[in-house]
Order: sequence, then structure tokens, then C-alpha cells
Amino acid sequence: MITLTNLRKVYPSPDGDVIALDGLDLDVDRGEIHGIVGPSGAGKSTLIRCLTALERPTSGTVAIDGVHLTGLPERELRQQRRRIGMVFQHVNLLDARTALDNVAYPLRIAGTSRAHARRRARELLDLVGLADRGGSHPAYLSGGQQQRVGIARALAGDPAVLLCDEPSSALDWATTRQVLELVKQVRDRLGITVLIITHEMSVVRQVCDSVTLLDHGRVAQHGALRDVVTDYGTTLARDLIPLAATPVGVERAQLEVSFSSADVPVGQVLARLADLNDLAGVESGTIETLAGERVGRFQLDLRAGDKDTVTERLRAFGLHVEVTR
Ligand SMILES: Nc1ncnc2c1ncn2[C@@H]1O[C@H](COP(=O)(O)OP(=O)(O)OP(=O)(O)O)[C@@H](O)[C@H]1O
Ligand SMILES: [Mg+2]
Repeated sequence: MITLTNLRKVYPSPDGDVIALDGLDLDVDRGEIHGIVGPSGAGKSTLIRCLTALERPTSGTVAIDGVHLTGLPERELRQQRRRIGMVFQHVNLLDARTALDNVAYPLRIAGTSRAHARRRARELLDLVGLADRGGSHPAYLSGGQQQRVGIARALAGDPAVLLCDEPSSALDWATTRQVLELVKQVRDRLGITVLIITHEMSVVRQVCDSVTLLDHGRVAQHGALRDVVTDYGTTLARDLIPLAATPVGVERAQLEVSFSSADVPVGQVLARLADLNDLAGVESGTIETLAGERVGRFQLDLRAGDKDTVTERLRAFGLHVEVTR
């Protein structure tokens, strides 16, 4: 559905060229919710701008649903852009217009009749759970409700792709959950393809089917969530199952154990760790449900015996073990 091939974007600057995207390949299937994560400066915003064709790539191609955006004349590009709905961190609703008119606005601009635009806007407000707030102005809506209106507005042109740029970073935790839940519902009902740019791993954990880690304008890691999370020891596996930071002054644990319930049931992992308690004690740990499996990480401190023996026994249980100190 979204195909980026060998995408490069170079910004000339007085101090030398800045390579924002450095030969990026990306493939997102129809109906998938795909997360793009990466450190500041990795190229996330540049990627979005290339996808929406606000920016022309230096080389490489961008294709949405088989249509190559790169090389299209401006007029056709404008038409293609309608196939992409955008949801931003800051919703930017028109303050002077009601929620209903905000959703109808892009349709009116595209030349839809007032009656039809309002009918469609009502359906969309219903879809995002705001059927009874169409007459409210943005100032009278909560942040989460405004984001819902933003999603309805993004869906007005029946886009094939929904691009979400940090959709939840201005929202609190509970509201974020609701908005992400809505994105999932929208995908389930409309079969739309969703790309979410985020710096929050919790967003990826909650809604994404697959994820790409960008670094220095390149794909550093990529895959279905269930695969990257069991690629133990990698950046994404670690970031998806974060451990509490070791307090200052406390020595780091010596062993780290990872597992997925696809390989070992959680109850068994806990029983095995309890069995080993005299040799290695659990210092901290996390268990998450991710892509339908329970996945976890524990930090263990050696109490008796030697590292190799303990490591071997843990591995024999089917656990992934890393020696961290
Ligand atoms: N218009 C521009 N002119 C020059 N350099 C730019 C421009 N836009 C982005 N860059 C550079 O390109 C690189 C990628 O920037 P980009 O904004 O895509 O990163 P990002 O992943 O969105 O970061 P953040 O998480 O901080 O938003 C950075 O080194 C940035 O300085
Ligand atoms: Mg950015």
C-alpha cells in the first residue's frame, strides 16, 4: 500500500549537505497499522513530508496504492494528496467553526455540496463517538475530543492512508489510550492503512502491527511486532519491554532474561526463576502483552554459584539470557 524505494533526501546547508533520508526502503501492507520510531533527527518528519509530497525527495520513489507520487505534475499531486488523511499532534481546528463544520470543511474545499458535506461530517462524527457534539466549537471540547474531530476531518476525503504525526503526545495517558483505540476501530471498520510517527514506545505496543526504527535516515530495524520483540537484545526488543532504570549507586544486575509465552508459558518462567532463587534473585522485571503474546524481561543478580552454570540452566528452560555485568 505504501512503498518507499531507496528514498534519499539531502538538504544543502552552508556547513555541508545534511542527509536526512539515506536510501530508505519501506513497505506497509494494506490495512496495517505501522509505527515509525527513531531518535531526534532520524528523519521521521522528513519522511512524512516526502509521503505527503510536500517535499520532493532528492532521489528514490514514493508510491501509494501503486501510484508513484514522485514525478507527478502538481495538479495530479494535489488529487493524490486527498488520498492521504493527516492527523497532527496539535489538531489545529478552526476555532470559529463548529466541530461539524471543521469536519465538513475539507469536503467543501474539494467542491462537495454543503448538504452532502454536512451529511458526511455527521456520519464521521458518529464514527469517532462525537455524534452529539457536532454543534460545539473547539474551545468547548476536551483535548481528546478535539483529536477525535481531527481524525474525523482526516477521514472526510475517504483516504486510503491515514498518517498520524505524534497523534498523542499532547494528550494524557488515559486519553491517549482512547484515541489509539479509536484509530484501531477506524482501521478495522474502514480497512484503511495507518502510519504512526511517534517517539512513544507505548503507542507502538498498543496499536501497531509492525514497526520501523529509523536511525540517521536509514532503516535500523523493521518487522512485525511479534518478531522484533523476540529478536532479543536488539534496540526495539529492549525498548518495547523496558526495564526500570537501576537506581543511582546500585550496581547493575548481572544477568538479563527475556522470554515470550509463545516459547515458555509465563507461569513456568516464574516457577523456574523461583527454583533458582538461591542462585540468582530477581531484581526487577516487566511482563507485557504484545501482539497477543505475553513477553517479559527480568534482571537477575547472582547470589551463589557461577555465572556460566546459572546461565546454562536458564537457557535450558528456553529463556534468552544475556550477561550484563
Ligand atoms: N529544511 C531543512 N533544512 C536542512 N536540514 C533539515 C531540514 N529539515 C530537516 N533537516 C535535517 O534533517 C535531519 C532529519 O530531520 P527530521 O526533522 O526529519 O528528524 P525527526 O526524526 O523528525 O526528528 P524529531 O524527532 O526531533 O522531530 C536532521 O539532521 C535535520 O537537522
Ligand atoms: Mg520530527
